[in-house]
Amino acid sequence: MSGVTLTEIDAVVTSARAVATDVVLLELRAADGSLLPPWEPGAHLDVVVQPGVERQYSLCGDPSDLTRYEVAVLREPDGRGGSEHIHAHVAVGSALRVRGPLNHFALSVAPPGTPLAPSYVFVAGGIGITPILPMIAAVEAAGQPWELHYAGRSLERMPFVDELVGRYGSRVSVYVPASGRRLDLSSLSGGSISRPVAVYCCGPARMLTELEEVAAAAGWPSGTLHLERFEAREVTEPVRHESFEVELALSGLTVEVPPDRSILDVVEEAGVLVLSSCREGTCGTCETPVVSGEVDHRDSVLTPDEQEANEVMMICVSRAACPRLVLEL
Ligand code: FES
Repeated sequence: MSGVTLTEIDAVVTSARAVATDVVLLELRAADGSLLPPWEPGAHLDVVVQPGVERQYSLCGDPSDLTRYEVAVLREPDGRGGSEHIHAHVAVGSALRVRGPLNHFALSVAPPGTPLAPSYVFVAGGIGITPILPMIAAVEAAGQPWELHYAGRSLERMPFVDELVGRYGSRVSVYVPASGRRLDLSSLSGGSISRPVAVYCCGPARMLTELEEVAAAAGWPSGTLHLERFEAREVTEPVRHESFEVELALSGLTVEVPPDRSILDVVEEAGVLVLSSCREGTCGTCETPVVSGEVDHRDSVLTPDEQEANEVMMICVSRAACPRLVLEL
C-alpha cells in the first residue's frame, strides 16, 4: 500500500446548479445519510466519474458542515471527458463514488493574536477559485488580513464572483479582458508582498508558472508561495534514460522499470496494491514513502522543499535518478 489512505464513500447528488457559464456546483451527501470525513481548506475529492475514469475536484463548501460536500465542475470540451460526462449525465439523485478528502494545498492560519502572523494573498484563475473559497472563509474567521486577485475570461465564466465582491468588497480585485484590467502578477511583488505574506494560487498552468517566476525573481522567502495545479506541469527530460530497479521493502519484491513505463504500472503488474487516481502527477494519491535512493521528481504536487527532502514520491510520474530505489511498498 502507498502512504496515502483514502476513505471510499458512496455519495448521492442532492443539488446541482449552474454557478457560471459551463460550471455546475454539485452538492454530495453520503448515500446512507452518515456524516462525511472531515476536511480542511485546500482539500480535494477523487470522483469516480465512470468506471476507470477518476477526476479530482476541490472542496469549496463549509468544512464545519460534514453532512455534505460541494464541488464545482467546469465543463471542458477539450478535456479528457470526465467533466463532459458530469455535465451531461450527473443530476440530482445520481450516485457517485468518491474518495478522500486529500489535501496537498493546505492552508496554514496563525491563531488570532500571533505576532508576525502573515497577511494572505489569494490568486485565482477561473475555476481555480474553488479551493480558495474555504481558505478565504477561514482567514476571515481568524480575523487576519487578506486580499484576493481573481482573473477570468469574462464575468459570466467566473464562478462565485458576484458573491465574493458582494461580501468582501474592495478586498476582491477582479480582472477580465473586457474591463481592460489585466492581472499583472509582477505587481504582486511590489506593494502587496512587502511584509510577511502567504500566497496561495490556483489557476491555469501559465498563471502558476508566471507566479513562480515572479517569486523567484523577487526572492520571496521559501514557504511563501503555495500552488495548486489542475494540469500537470511541463517536465524536462528524465535524469536517467536507462531502466532502474525498485525494491519494494514491504512486499519483498524487486522490479525493473524500463524507460517507457512508470513505476506505478510496473508495481501494479507485479500484483502490489497501490492507490492511484490521476496518473499524471497532479492529485497526490499515489504518494509513496522513499526508503533510499535518489528520486527524479516529476510531479506537480510536492513543493521544491518537499522534493528536495526526498521522503516521498509520486510513482505515477516520478522516476529514479539512480540505478536502484527502495520504496515502502
Ligand atoms: S495518481 Fe495522481 S499523483 Fe499519482
